Amino acid sequence: MSTSRSSASLRRPAYPRMSPADADRLRSHLTRALGDSKVIAGEDAVFAYAGDESEQEPVLPDAVVLARDPRDVATTLAIASELGAPVTPRGAGTGKSGGCVPVCGGVALAIVGMSAIKEIDRKEQLCVVEPGVVLADLHAAVEAEGLFYPPDPNSLKLCVLGGNVAENAGGPRAFKYGTTRDYVLGLDVVTADGKALVVGRRTKKGVTGYDLTSLLVGSEGTLAVTTACTLRLLHKPESVATLLALYPDIDTAMRGVAEIVGGTSGARGLVPRCLEVMDGTCVAALRSEGFGVDERAGALLILEVDGDVATVERAMEEVGGRAADAGAIEVLAAQDEAQRARLWEARRQFSLVTRKLARAKISEDVVVPRTELTRLVMTVRAIEERHRVRMLTYGHAGDGNLHVNFLWDDPADEPKVELALEELFRAVVALRGTLTGEHGVGTSKAPYLALEQSSELIELQLRIKATFDPKGILNPGQIFPRRGHGSC
Ligand code: MLT
Ligand code: ZN
Repeated sequence: MSTSRSSASLRRPAYPRMSPADADRLRSHLTRALGDSKVIAGEDAVFAYAGDESEQEPVLPDAVVLARDPRDVATTLAIASELGAPVTPRGAGTGKSGGCVPVCGGVALAIVGMSAIKEIDRKEQLCVVEPGVVLADLHAAVEAEGLFYPPDPNSLKLCVLGGNVAENAGGPRAFKYGTTRDYVLGLDVVTADGKALVVGRRTKKGVTGYDLTSLLVGSEGTLAVTTACTLRLLHKPESVATLLALYPDIDTAMRGVAEIVGGTSGARGLVPRCLEVMDGTCVAALRSEGFGVDERAGALLILEVDGDVATVERAMEEVGGRAADAGAIEVLAAQDEAQRARLWEARRQFSLVTRKLARAKISEDVVVPRTELTRLVMTVRAIEERHRVRMLTYGHAGDGNLHVNFLWDDPADEPKVELALEELFRAVVALRGTLTGEHGVGTSKAPYLALEQSSELIELQLRIKATFDPKGILNPGQIFPRRGHGSC
């Protein structure tokens, strides 16, 4: 977690904490049960567990537990349940919605110490991993076996599977392959009262009982803590090719998106595995970081296709042809693996590159139906002009999922950023879209949940939450507008 930037927790209410005496009790129970080496306390020591990669202000936990195995997780939750103490599970802290900010203090439960790849089964095309496995390590391990795990959030060199499951992580390849939920067959979890539970299956098919696996994926650490994930794998595609299409402006680039997905001409839609967009501000930011992007380009698309060699050649021609027909200045193909890697490095660094543009930045991840992308871009422009807030847009255009970013330097600008943000969310809902496509609601979007969901739906979800976690100790403050919890 970076400590130098400014933090903004727009609309996040102040949550009360445990009393100092209760926090002391919590620490001494944890230390007695788990030993000194697994329990961290003290302001300096716990700071690294206070925030994530969003602009949400960090909050110090009262204690950090470094879990090494499922028993540590169960012990921690049993103690917390008995004492009514909040528990915020956390992976690598790469989240973008404040999902592991322990807003009520209590325990930050770090799962990165459980980091074994327990099994890769080539015949059954599945693997079983602990939640602290780094995603890029899993990619490398399964690819060495000729297999493929598609989800690829841009933090893949840092983020861990437990966090990916909690947030239902996506990434550029989601356009063709879907998100984490599409690959989770089953989960080993510990419930809020410290009981171990196995949900889901190892088989390809299975409809026994409610699909609790799907419910737990994306539940943002509010229902249970994952201790193992059984994941479906695919065969690794034989060949991959990456194209870069340069456009004079974002509107023309969006025409390119529509041409490719079959939105305008009525032609059969194509499904490249990635269809990423960057607007003019993003392109300028890349140039200032030393990436040599053609001066004529005011927007770009990154396109990637995969399959067997013949399929990839045909798809490159089709996708590249449509990108060009929409008004591209140029469509370039990466000539070798090194060029592909450079292109993706530029894309994956993007969140960090844009962070340098201002003291504060919020990156949203709204989704609209793809046919509404052009209208969303127009709306962003109108909001930017009306509120005089610097904004930029990039993201997973193929999914209709755009990272609309708000940038500002002066804390006095926060009220107008807040207005602009709410206007964006209202517009997205009016376009029949959704507030978050991959970062989760967290604490950052909790105040806006009711813009999209009815009070009846929110109440139903709260009843589900209460069934899993009757004392409300798991990750309080997340997803739902403030309700507090037992000791908050
Ligand atoms: C991305 O696509 O780069 C990530 O989701 C992070 C972000 O920029 O918001
Ligand atoms: Zn993204």
